Amino acid sequence: MILIPVFITLAISLVIAGKPSPHTTNKPSIFSGIRVPTRGTRRVAQTPSGIFDQQTAVAHLNLTINKYRRGLVNLLNNKGPGALDEGVTIGEIREVNFPQAITKRQSEALTDENDTWDGIISIGTPSQTVLAEIDNAIGDSFVPVSGCETCQGKTLFDLANSSSSTLLRQGVLEIDFAEGSGALGIPFQDTASITVQNQTIAGINATTGDVFQFFKDGVMGLGFPSIAGLGANNPIFNAFAQGQIPSPQFSVKLSENDSSLFIGGQDPLLFNGSTEFTPLATNMGFWEVSDASIKANGASTVFGFNALIDTSTAFLIGPTKGVKKFYSQVPNAKVFDKTNGLFSVPCSNIPQVALNFGGEDWVVNANDLNLGPTAQGSNDCVLSVVGQDFGFGHTWIFGAPLMKVTYTTFDFGELTIGFSRLSENSVPPAPAPVPAPAPAPAPCPCNCTTGANKYEV
Ligand SMILES: *[C@@H]1O[C@H](CO)[C@@H](O)[C@H](O)[C@H]1NC(C)=O
Ligand SMILES: *[C@@H]1O[C@H](CO)[C@@H](O)[C@H](O)[C@H]1NC(C)=O
Ligand SMILES: *[C@@H]1O[C@H](CO)[C@@H](O)[C@H](O)[C@H]1NC(C)=O
Ligand SMILES: *[C@@H]1O[C@H](CO)[C@@H](O)[C@H](O)[C@H]1NC(C)=O
Ligand SMILES: *[C@@H]1O[C@H](CO)[C@@H](O)[C@H](O)[C@H]1NC(C)=O
Ligand SMILES: *[C@@H]1O[C@H](CO)[C@@H](O)[C@H](O)[C@H]1NC(C)=O
Ligand SMILES: *[C@@H]1O[C@H](CO)[C@@H](O)[C@H](O)[C@H]1NC(C)=O
Ligand SMILES: *[C@@H]1O[C@H](CO)[C@@H](O)[C@H](O)[C@H]1NC(C)=O
Repeated sequence: MILIPVFITLAISLVIAGKPSPHTTNKPSIFSGIRVPTRGTRRVAQTPSGIFDQQTAVAHLNLTINKYRRGLVNLLNNKGPGALDEGVTIGEIREVNFPQAITKRQSEALTDENDTWDGIISIGTPSQTVLAEIDNAIGDSFVPVSGCETCQGKTLFDLANSSSSTLLRQGVLEIDFAEGSGALGIPFQDTASITVQNQTIAGINATTGDVFQFFKDGVMGLGFPSIAGLGANNPIFNAFAQGQIPSPQFSVKLSENDSSLFIGGQDPLLFNGSTEFTPLATNMGFWEVSDASIKANGASTVFGFNALIDTSTAFLIGPTKGVKKFYSQVPNAKVFDKTNGLFSVPCSNIPQVALNFGGEDWVVNANDLNLGPTAQGSNDCVLSVVGQDFGFGHTWIFGAPLMKVTYTTFDFGELTIGFSRLSENSVPPAPAPVPAPAPAPAPCPCNCTTGANKYEV
């Protein structure tokens, strides 16, 4: 599915709603960063009763892979074939077939689909707010604008009413990836702590295909300009260039209900101890580090690969060969869906999985690893470690299962990614584990009606 919206590029002032950190009050010009309340991820691939939802999972995998493919195509267009690392290839666009019910739910007030990471941003003068998905693997930012007849149900940015908007040029932005959807609403209490001027945003006024079925009101991409279709800096890069933030960093905490984006450094309240910084492995424009490994039950299974650190996928996606090797070392693992690289293990024997970048072991929460029983009443559970060949050679994609157990800092000055321990007070209480399918009650062999004669035959 290729979705090609007509677009106009705007130079506008973009205001990211957020709270200046308390450390900023004495130093109006050099401050320590901006807290942007955001909303969290949760597992996307389960039915309400906790059963693995295969079609939704695969649709999300397809979207994620299309997203990286689009970044590569943009990179090729921006920089030529020499910019692609060796072994990187651009494959076919995948279809994205969410179950009908999911797409239908998009037009309703959503309450249970907060499976992506989003925040409210304000754009223009006077400002208009947009609920934007935040995605560090996308280079562009875009919003639907007034006049878009195919953007039903979306908040449209009113261009004509914004004195700071300037039309740059017209053209076509190809958007052939998409992400899931989430709950609407939740305004922030504070606004307008930083203003980024002259931010290039694609204003989408026509679409082919139902592109916005997958998005909320817009997308704020935090990838590098080389992977952006418009080739422009993302808002945080611009904020730094314009002296609005003290350091070329943004930090992310992803959690089910109190995610956070901190612009211009690290939020001291959210991490504890030192930060393990790892250099970027490539200058392609993706947030990708080297020397990653994945362990099962304490033993290294696959190691020495690169990993794309992704704020917006619920999976740990590896090349099929590497993932096979991983599962060969997980007791009782078996193939569940060969085509889509899905594996299962006995629900009673979920392995402990840890990710490592040459320092600490980051142990994944069982709840982010176990996607639930393969079917109602099944004793086999699907894991979020998935095998897919997506064109990046031996590289893996580490999404929410990693990001929920680290405080992650993206540094575009040093070109590193830093991993820190979450501070204890910021770790939410462990969610209840996926309930094992209840065994049918054993027929009562005795008079069970009272405790006293419970074992009486
Ligand atoms: C995933 O992509 C493949 C290849 O395009 C397609 O055949 C399949 O239907 C897609 N599955 C879903 C659930 O989107
Ligand atoms: C996510 O969805 C759950 C279930 O509807 C809801 O209770 C929770 O408040 C939502 N969290 C956020 C941050 O929107
Ligand atoms: C989109 O905007 C461009 C530039 O203003 C305009 O020429 C075009 O007619 C618009 N398309 C629609 C469908 O509004
Ligand atoms: C347009 O801007 C004016 C202030 O200049 C404001 O009162 C009005 O609500 C805005 N309209 C929309 C649709 O944003
Ligand atoms: C924004 O663009 C205008 C017009 O080109 C220019 O005068 C101004 O200096 C720019 N502002 C910044 C912060 O780059
Ligand atoms: C920081 O880590 C230390 C050592 O593990 C622990 O004792 C302390 O409670 C932690 N503090 C916070 C705020 O998490
Ligand atoms: C959200 O986090 C808070 C604080 O950790 C906790 O008290 C609350 O129960 C959580 N809510 C949900 C829906 O997980
Ligand atoms: C079970 O025990 C209760 C209390 O001792 C007694 O009244 C009842 O008749 C017993 N029922 C059977 C089926 O034995």
